[in-house]
Amino acid sequence: MQTKLVFEDAASSASPLLTVFALDQNTEKEGDPKIALLSVSAAVQSAAAAVLTSGEFKAGVAETLLLHNPAGLKAARLLIVGVGKTKSLSAVELRKAAGTAVRFAKPRGIREVAIIFPEGQDLAIEAARSAQAIVEGAVIADFDPDTYKSDRKDQSIAALSVFAPSGARAAIETGVAEGEIIASAQNFARSLVNEPGNKLTPTVLGQRAAEMARTSGLAADGYSTDKMKELGMGAFLGVAQGSYEPPALIVLTYTPPAAPAADAPVFGLVGKGITFDTGGISIKPADGMEKMKYDMAGAAAMLGAMQAVAALKPPFKVISVICSCENKPSGRSYKPGDILTSASGKTIEINNTDAEGRLVLADGLWYAKQLGATKLVNAATLTGACAVALGLINAGLFTNDEATSTAFTGAAKIAGEGFWALPSSDEYLQLMKSSIADLMNTSNTRWGGASTAAAFLKEFVGETPWIHLDIAGLAWQDADKPWMPKGPSGFAVRSIVEWVRSTQ
Ligand code: BES
Ligand code: ZN
Ligand code: ZN
Repeated sequence: MQTKLVFEDAASSASPLLTVFALDQNTEKEGDPKIALLSVSAAVQSAAAAVLTSGEFKAGVAETLLLHNPAGLKAARLLIVGVGKTKSLSAVELRKAAGTAVRFAKPRGIREVAIIFPEGQDLAIEAARSAQAIVEGAVIADFDPDTYKSDRKDQSIAALSVFAPSGARAAIETGVAEGEIIASAQNFARSLVNEPGNKLTPTVLGQRAAEMARTSGLAADGYSTDKMKELGMGAFLGVAQGSYEPPALIVLTYTPPAAPAADAPVFGLVGKGITFDTGGISIKPADGMEKMKYDMAGAAAMLGAMQAVAALKPPFKVISVICSCENKPSGRSYKPGDILTSASGKTIEINNTDAEGRLVLADGLWYAKQLGATKLVNAATLTGACAVALGLINAGLFTNDEATSTAFTGAAKIAGEGFWALPSSDEYLQLMKSSIADLMNTSNTRWGGASTAAAFLKEFVGETPWIHLDIAGLAWQDADKPWMPKGPSGFAVRSIVEWVRSTQ
């Protein structure tokens, strides 16, 4: 998608689909909506006036209304997209509205979309943030997951024009550029998560990471069993040993253009990259197992974040450690009762081979610290329990450092992604104590599964500020939304990038 900024009255747009956002200014719970079009173009206002007074359009979020041959405009169609009520309006609704316009256009064979930058009505969103959100929404909406259909019709949008006021030109240009970077990174993550387990093995994930690193200017290292043995990664190796596919330990490094201050943080982005999780010897039920191709979504989120970091160039070093393997039953699989020795030296009694994510992450987090990370974040489709607790609305957020968690939550809000803090205190760790080793990999009760998993991970980060993102419920969307197709979501990429770049 080519994005173009046009600093003219939108009446001059000859687009096949000119889009304008509409707000409901009614501040009461009851009563008819008071619709305001977010455009300063008198021609656009007049073209839509009659239909807006008809009362058939309520300006709900992602609600659409289409006018053909709008009077006084050069555009072939005018699409009005709702952004909801004034009180709740933020960049989140703008992102959804832009995405809705793109997803409206695609099945109708429309390849060019124009969007009027929202203006007027005392909007309290900074111009750069609005521009960023609009472009993000459009680029994310352009993604389609049907890549293996033999009769696939390419419905991608060729061009997006944003009609913007020249007053805030510099801010809008910056927002557009950053929006493109961040949304492309999210789409890169989605393209990885979309791949089935037979196509995207750990080795292939390593190749895709290396390709991205090469084109983005990041340093990349890829290792397998030998190096992992050398590092003593017994937990990661234990999970990997059941598969014929070799594991991949992938390390990407971003070094800022100017040497950072001595006390600047070094970010460590650690991702769970299980390219297929059968559960291993503690095998999962057949129903729904196919979904476990997305058990590498944490790894994909980190790779996406690294792609954006490389382009946005924050003044910090950022290291990503991806732990990728399959979790499969075979004659040489690890099994319940086994004891694994992690790279940190802690020993782990296995009582369920399906709790494999925490094992690979235990070694990954340890390694990120070895490589110099002083601020850790990991993302993982770690527990079904987290999805049960928070639904498909918020991801779980766990931490050992409140300040880090607060900073991350602020960034996530800007990015428009939901995270909810859950506990990982010592009481949960007590449930993971083993009578034969330092830890068990699951507790003996099924209650609080997201928190016991987090308490386990916490044992491997020590005093380093750390946040754990359990994205099990968010990494894959089961249903289409007006602004996004069902399938891989690329969840957490935007928040992680926002967090890194907003760090002082
Ligand atoms: N990959 C799964 C978690 C998962 C479940 C991700 C559903 C996405 C959707 C993870 O490896 C797993 O199997 N966890 C177990 C842990 C249990 C054995 C303690 C779970 O959640 O049941
Ligand atoms: Zn599992
Ligand atoms: Zn898993």
